[in-house]
Amino acid sequence: MQVNEAILKRRSVRAYKPEPVKPELLQQIFNEAQQSPSNCNTQPWHVVVVSGESRDAIEKAMIADIMAGKPPTPHFTPGDHQLKDQYRKRQIACAIALYDAMDIAYEEKQKRQELMVKNWQFFGAPHAAFFSMPKSMSEINAVDMGIYLQTLMLLMTEHGLASCPQGALAMYTDKVHEMANIPEDHAIMFGLSFGYEDTDHQINQFDVGRADLNDSVEFLT
Ligand SMILES: Cc1cc2nc3c(=O)[nH]c(=O)nc-3n(C[C@H](O)[C@H](O)[C@H](O)COP(=O)(O)O)c2cc1C
Repeated sequence: MQVNEAILKRRSVRAYKPEPVKPELLQQIFNEAQQSPSNCNTQPWHVVVVSGESRDAIEKAMIADIMAGKPPTPHFTPGDHQLKDQYRKRQIACAIALYDAMDIAYEEKQKRQELMVKNWQFFGAPHAAFFSMPKSMSEINAVDMGIYLQTLMLLMTEHGLASCPQGALAMYTDKVHEMANIPEDHAIMFGLSFGYEDTDHQINQFDVGRADLNDSVEFLT
């Protein structure tokens, strides 16, 4: 697969088949992702992949916190905090595209919440990864984390896997920190659910599209 094919094919997938990915393939993909570039080659990413019992236990713990009405404890201000102008419009359009795919009207708050909760059930994926970096690091290192994430997702696409990056997996951090063995001085930035796509599921039948090139890129001569 060419890089541009992988870029065009990848999208966030929110329903999965239960079959796990072979451990050798996981090793290969994560090994290749180690080639991601980073500021001064600092490679700030610390990644914990959870599968099987550890995955199920973390899902249970996060859902228990949510059901108990525990407030989220993110280490960073969530990226969607107080969005304005075109960014807010895109955020709303993205949410509505998801609700439309699931035949949920905006007024159906209960159904919207149930859909949101699927984030912490890893959208049914057999694997998830939690990505953290030292709390002492700054925005430039967060850039490295993003580059690593995209490298990983494109490699997964190439190898026939689907994924969904999730800021939501950085929200209920207390138990995850301990259960996923995240180093004490690290902040969880985001998570990634992944596995084989359930291609028939209606939640996977939409495409959010992108802004026009001219809205994002200027070529000066
Ligand atoms: C850092 C990051 C955090 C995200 N958090 C969530 C999330 O918590 N839940 C979710 O369903 N999608 C999440 N997404 C997926 C975005 O909604 C998605 O990438 C965007 O709408 C573009 O769609 P596409 O990935 O299908 O191309 C996140 C994406 C990124 C890059």
